[in-house]
Amino acid sequence: MAEGDRIPLDAQSVDAPLSRFAVFLVVTVDASDSALEQVRDVVTEIDDLIKTVGFRDLAAHLSCVVGIGSTLWDRLSPRARPSELHPFPVIAGARHTAPSTPGDLLFHIRADRADLVFEFERLLLDSLRGAVTVASETQGFRYFDARDVLGFVDGTANPVGAELAGAVLIGDEDPDFAGGSYVVVQKYLHDLDTWAKLSTEEQEAVIGRTKLDNVELDDAPGPQFAHKTLSTIDDGHGGELDILRDNMPFGRPGHGEFGTYFIGYSRALWVIERMLERMFIGEPAGFHDRILDVSTALTGTTFFVPSRPVLVGLADGDDGGDDEADAGEPAAPPASAALDAADESLGIGSLRRSASERTTS
Ligand code: HEM
Repeated sequence: MAEGDRIPLDAQSVDAPLSRFAVFLVVTVDASDSALEQVRDVVTEIDDLIKTVGFRDLAAHLSCVVGIGSTLWDRLSPRARPSELHPFPVIAGARHTAPSTPGDLLFHIRADRADLVFEFERLLLDSLRGAVTVASETQGFRYFDARDVLGFVDGTANPVGAELAGAVLIGDEDPDFAGGSYVVVQKYLHDLDTWAKLSTEEQEAVIGRTKLDNVELDDAPGPQFAHKTLSTIDDGHGGELDILRDNMPFGRPGHGEFGTYFIGYSRALWVIERMLERMFIGEPAGFHDRILDVSTALTGTTFFVPSRPVLVGLADGDDGGDDEADAGEPAAPPASAALDAADESLGIGSLRRSASERTTS
């Protein structure tokens, strides 16, 4: 996708507006052929389930993005694979390590009502029963003005409007998988007691923004950079390579559990992996992201998010690409038509909302 392109109708709802609630569900698929066929049916018909639950309160904007891991992709569609798809690599720095953990499918379920998210997940797991094992399940919630539990507003620098499609969706560089995206998830637990011992100024230096009013600070002179600097990737021409994050807090205060579920969508997987190297190994090496001194990554898994036609095409073992037309899928309308359709949409299934609706408030 080129800069200025709109998110097309046939992309999954990676750009769904920041929601009040989310469930991040990662499952592995059992080895049998019958499990594979059951999963194939469920993921290719996911839009029907979104309608079934989402229609009960359209204003709650239920959405679900399906991501497919590298191993499962080869089982579902052995003929062709997205060019960058591979499992999450362990990233080991001198002090902190990002582990790689199992996951064949990611369901990123979002809505403005917790009961819709719950109901969708309940029916989804019902339909997958006997075929999958839950590897990780996290209920996230919006915390005040989109803050993480460290107390900072999280998500501000996300691409919006004309920048969004070019940052998040694969384009001509991998034509069979155009309109798809890579997504990386990591579940972090925080040591809030240690964090609370830092002064507000020290915390702000770790993050790179002011805490109360969220203003970006100038880059430190180095060698110890802030999180916002370490997670900024240069495109080599003076620009930045953005990713789309929809992190959410989770926690159980009664168990001393406080966390951030990191989720990042990107057109190029290497961009997220480079961010992680800069955070865990450091840039320069040895100067890791100090956010990690109070945040432990428990999981790390990578998925490919196919466009809707490619996802639906998996129904017959198809790998999308040129064969989509054979599967009877309508061609994507021009971008302008897509936007018109979104305005008339019922707000479910293939709902697209203008990127300008993505706000952090
Ligand atoms: C413990 C987990 C994490 C927390 C609590 C966290 C929190 C934050 C906060 C508060 C900001 C500043 C506001 C904003 O622009 O959103 C930020 C920025 C950012 N974070 Fe994280 N983050 C975490 C993990 C990650 C990871 C694992 C990545 C990438 C692999 C990442 C990538 C980014 C990027 C790209 C920015 C924007 C930088 C900029 O252009 O200013 N973050 N994060």
